[in-house]
Amino acid sequence: MSLHYLIRQVHRWASIVFTVFFILVFIASMRPQPVEWVFYLPLAPLFVMLPTGLYLFALPYFQRARSGNKS
Ligand code: HEM
Repeated sequence: MSLHYLIRQVHRWASIVFTVFFILVFIASMRPQPVEWVFYLPLAPLFVMLPTGLYLFALPYFQRARSGNKS
């Protein structure tokens, strides 16, 4: 299993966790006295998604540079 594949899987599953937490925040905000820490929950998967997403963004440029294709 390549690092590229692993990082894509981490990004994919973190996006599911992020979406679930986001829905939880939406539900929690509808309650009369929402628990404050619930609003911070989506930040946890987002901190995972930022470096993995930036890696996925940079990957094609690294691969192009390695193959010697300058276009
Ligand atoms: C935090 C900043 C983020 C960055 C920099 C980022 C960047 C990227 C990049 C560059 C790709 C690859 C696109 C491609 O291969 O054409 C990608 C894929 C993807 N991103 Fe993000 N992303 C971020 C956050 C998110 C969020 C918040 C979600 C959804 C809640 C999300 C969901 C996905 C999904 C589902 C894929 C496809 C993964 C796969 O191929 O299996 N990303 N992202």
